[in-house]
Amino acid sequence: MIQSNKVHEILYGGDYNPEQWGEQEIQKDMEYLPQAGVNIVTLNVFNWAMIQPDETHYDFSGLDETVRMVTEKGMKICMATATGAHPAWMAHRHPDILRTEFNGMKRKFGARHNSCPNSPTFHTYSTRLAAKLAEHYKNQENIAAWHIGNEYGGICYCENCEKAFRIWLQKKYGTLDKLNQVWNTHFWGHTFYDWDEIVAPNLLTEHFESNRSMYPCITLDYYRFYSDSLLQNFIDESDEIRKAIPDAKITTNLMGFYKDLDYGKWAKHMDFVSWDNYPSAGEPEAMIAMKHDLMRGLKPGMPFSLMEQTPSVSNWHNYATLKRPGEMRLMSYQAMGHGADTIMFFQMRQCRAECEKLHSAFISHVGTNDTRIYKECQALGLELHSLGNEILGSRVPAKAAIVFDWNNWWAIEMSAGLNMDLHYIDELYAYYEALHAYGVQVDVIGVDAPLDAYKLVIAPTLYMVKPGVADRLTAFADQGGTLVVSIYSGLADENENVTQSGYPGELRKLCGLWIEEFDSLPSGELNHFTWNGQRYTSELMFAISHPEGAQTLAAYESDFYAKMPVLSKHTTGKGQVYYFGTRSEKAFYHAFMKQLCADQKILAQDAQELPEGLELSIREKDGAEYLFFLNHKGEEEHAGKENSIRLTEALAGVSMLGEREYKAGELLTLPPYGVEILKKKI
Ligand code: GLA
Ligand code: ZN
Repeated sequence: MIQSNKVHEILYGGDYNPEQWGEQEIQKDMEYLPQAGVNIVTLNVFNWAMIQPDETHYDFSGLDETVRMVTEKGMKICMATATGAHPAWMAHRHPDILRTEFNGMKRKFGARHNSCPNSPTFHTYSTRLAAKLAEHYKNQENIAAWHIGNEYGGICYCENCEKAFRIWLQKKYGTLDKLNQVWNTHFWGHTFYDWDEIVAPNLLTEHFESNRSMYPCITLDYYRFYSDSLLQNFIDESDEIRKAIPDAKITTNLMGFYKDLDYGKWAKHMDFVSWDNYPSAGEPEAMIAMKHDLMRGLKPGMPFSLMEQTPSVSNWHNYATLKRPGEMRLMSYQAMGHGADTIMFFQMRQCRAECEKLHSAFISHVGTNDTRIYKECQALGLELHSLGNEILGSRVPAKAAIVFDWNNWWAIEMSAGLNMDLHYIDELYAYYEALHAYGVQVDVIGVDAPLDAYKLVIAPTLYMVKPGVADRLTAFADQGGTLVVSIYSGLADENENVTQSGYPGELRKLCGLWIEEFDSLPSGELNHFTWNGQRYTSELMFAISHPEGAQTLAAYESDFYAKMPVLSKHTTGKGQVYYFGTRSEKAFYHAFMKQLCADQKILAQDAQELPEGLELSIREKDGAEYLFFLNHKGEEEHAGKENSIRLTEALAGVSMLGEREYKAGELLTLPPYGVEILKKKI
């Protein structure tokens, strides 16, 4: 939900850019949108050039007219600050606003998301525009939220960024001695004697290919600095808005697992989290679910907004596959099941030209409301309206959490070694997918999030252990929690300096083992292990470890480290810590997660996986649970069969989409892309 006392309904709508089309079309939009249940539009996303023709003049008349029409139709507004793309005149007259690429190429005017965050020009004019917009619209009652910039991202390596980097470093380290020590600059003779000797790490300097750095300590700090730079842009504009509108609700649209920005840090400055969901064709539903949970986890306990999704195609995918009938509705409810209180789209009417001309929209090029897409959007809009507001503000009652950290992601994948095929998100997904298959609700949380609500915490590949993290994980296990630590964890501190006290460093005592070496093989080259009577594959990485109090549950089958532990368990306080020293196959993660969830009573001992393609997500509020059953199988995959589930006591309830009650023991059957929401008193 856009967290505002002005909002008492599920918000439904999306980006509306009438500047790009004509008067006649706009008249039709004003009929078709409210008729489709649209109650909010995002305005002004890319209008900077239209509002501001030069350094001193501002013209809000076009935007005023749109605001007037939208308001007359009773719709709310998500007002963007338009700073996602700068005007051509600004780039022409003030080239410091242009970015420099990773390869050192200085850009000219063009595209979007194109401003250097450390450009004085950008700073002056973006904050001034935000201030003017806020002043101009401060009494506009139906502005439910403010949307700063757009999809912040991309990295600049210009001289202004380099200068700002040095200042950021001075603040962080105080002295060059300290910096030289933390950056370990005796390696390859990098000792710095003057701050001005420090340059941005890119293809001209420390990198040999896009994401591998020869000096990870420097690159890590540059990524941190750069994420902070864009965040500062967001904060600066937000401050201007708050000066005029102290209770403004401010957000920007995030992008799920977007690598360049530390969203964990960003979210602390956002009033509510919103994000854009554009899965590629064939992306597994569990991966989309994990992204929703990641976005929700940025502000624990709070709903989020789905700021953008496409009604049907995203033209920019290699193959612009249509969403099949029912698929858009299903994906909207999936977002809601994971905590969204707002369902929005890009965009309301299809573009006339340029690269997004074939991106789908509520209203297609044909211009009428007699299209499949419009009708599906309308049906959903009206259905959401009929749900009323009772789900608003409900939370996902997760007992399991997966820890995720952006700095850790950067560190693992920017350095040479140890395995090019080991990807942090894949490690996360292996565990997430297994929990998802059993309908276990999961929070994806930052390393600094409180752990007391959970019984099971998984910290996959926590290579970088920041200060305080080991203590908090220890306290969690001591108090009776089950913790899973996996391969390649505990190697480095927050500065990318490797532990000198034996892997897994600060987690060594907690895991009850010492890892002496890691072996690494290309994917597909297998070792094996047997656990609970089942034989499983082991690949990619292998930890050669020595128990120090941990009990060996399974051992490698072959190679010189045969018989050494691959899975071990260490009891600490009232809880237990598992160390899993490799990458395995789906069947293992399913069995492992089931066992741990059953031990912690998150699942029954005899719990079954949900039927393939069926997802269960749960929200909870005021003594009621809302169970979202989602069938991700389409017509083709169904091959004539429907997807159904025999309801247990815990899953029975009253349908919110139909009229009927489902009792325990009954079969709930969902058609292709079908959805059911059952309400259950708890
Ligand atoms: C992003 C942007 C939108 C639009 C869509 C197209 O999410 O925010 O402006 O370009 O992609 O999918
Ligand atoms: Zn720059």
